[in-house]
Amino acid sequence: MRRFALHTMVASNELDPQFIIETARMLFTLAVRLRDELGIQLEFVNLGGGIGIPYRPGEQAMSYAEVSDGIRALYEQIIEPAGLGGLKLSFECGRVMTGPYGVLVSRVRHVTRKYKDYVGLDACMANLMRPAMYGSYHHITVLGKGEGSPTQVVDVTGSLCENNDKFAIDRELPVMQPGDVVVIHDAGAHGHSMGFNYNGKLRSAEYLLRQDGSVEMIRRAETMDDLFATVEW
Ligand SMILES: Cc1ncc(COP(=O)(O)O)c(C=O)c1O
Repeated sequence: MRRFALHTMVASNELDPQFIIETARMLFTLAVRLRDELGIQLEFVNLGGGIGIPYRPGEQAMSYAEVSDGIRALYEQIIEPAGLGGLKLSFECGRVMTGPYGVLVSRVRHVTRKYKDYVGLDACMANLMRPAMYGSYHHITVLGKGEGSPTQVVDVTGSLCENNDKFAIDRELPVMQPGDVVVIHDAGAHGHSMGFNYNGKLRSAEYLLRQDGSVEMIRRAETMDDLFATVEW
């Protein structure tokens, strides 16, 4: 028996619900064509991932209600009249499931003034590659230095000897000192899982913050033994 379904992956970090709704329209129309022209009855349509997250303050998370209302309307308009009412739908979202629920916690190691002001962290692009790789914005806060703290415009750098190893460029942030704890937000997707060991960087531990406020280590930090574990001596 041959079984068929449709799958697409056309969006990435999209915040406009209409984009997802229009993806559903495209697949629903195709589902009807496949049945009409080839006699293929699909079991399900997978709309892929692509739902974005509000990385920047002021951005709005995508409204799931708007997405589901829009998709339901199209289902009633395209799928049901074509007699395909049993068609199942699925998503395979990644970023939106994990991204906002992880933070990279780092400590300031150095503060220096050259032709610009720099704050150097003990984390680096081996822990979170997105800013260095795509220039992506990740919101940064400093523990204990909230609204009203004096600020300065800085580049926040990692500890790798790569010019692009920066978490923020020309960002207005609270004035920082060595030892300050810096929180880099929305690091739950494309963070640890994209990590790497260049320059002998060891991957950090991962901690789970439970709803009752307790914290549990769910992955220990790598050691030098881990780094050399695959070397054939
Ligand atoms: C085939 C496929 N499905 C799902 C995803 C998850 O996408 P997202 O994290 O944008 O929800 C990806 C990400 O690249 C993908 O390539």
